[in-house]
Amino acid sequence: MKTGNEAITTTARAWAPCMADEEYGAFLNQLLEAERAGAKLLSAYLDELPLDSAEWQAIRAVQVDEARNCAVLIHLLLAADLTPTAAVGSFYGRGLAIQGWHERLEFLNRGQAWVAKRIAAALAGIPENARTALQAMHESHIANIRSCEALSMDELKRTSPARWSRA
Ligand SMILES: [Fe+2]
Repeated sequence: MKTGNEAITTTARAWAPCMADEEYGAFLNQLLEAERAGAKLLSAYLDELPLDSAEWQAIRAVQVDEARNCAVLIHLLLAADLTPTAAVGSFYGRGLAIQGWHERLEFLNRGQAWVAKRIAAALAGIPENARTALQAMHESHIANIRSCEALSMDELKRTSPARWSRA
């Protein structure tokens, strides 16, 4: 059961006014930069895994979601007459510098958790026509965090021993 304070907070969030165009555009473009960085980084990671191995398939599924999110965000920006950024977030370069698979997956999940948190914090102020898409993006990040956590480190060690031993 909700306490009085929780109920007030929930109600206030439900009634929060929509973001102004400038804030909404900055929010969507911040996510677009992050998702583009994730899609590019995971493409690079995939190049180091045996094609169609279980690990390749799991990371490929996350990469496809990142690329799809870019398309969704660009669509939302254009629908609001806002300009999509062409920038790639710093997550890409920082992730490329990481060699070990364990560290890579931890880095990836920290990034995914950041995006999920960013969306959750903004959701109440997002224009209604975009809420369903962003709620789905939030849920897919939570699901992908779990699938990356479930990846077996032993399997990654076996499939990429040279890379692992340098980590
Ligand atoms: Fe993402």
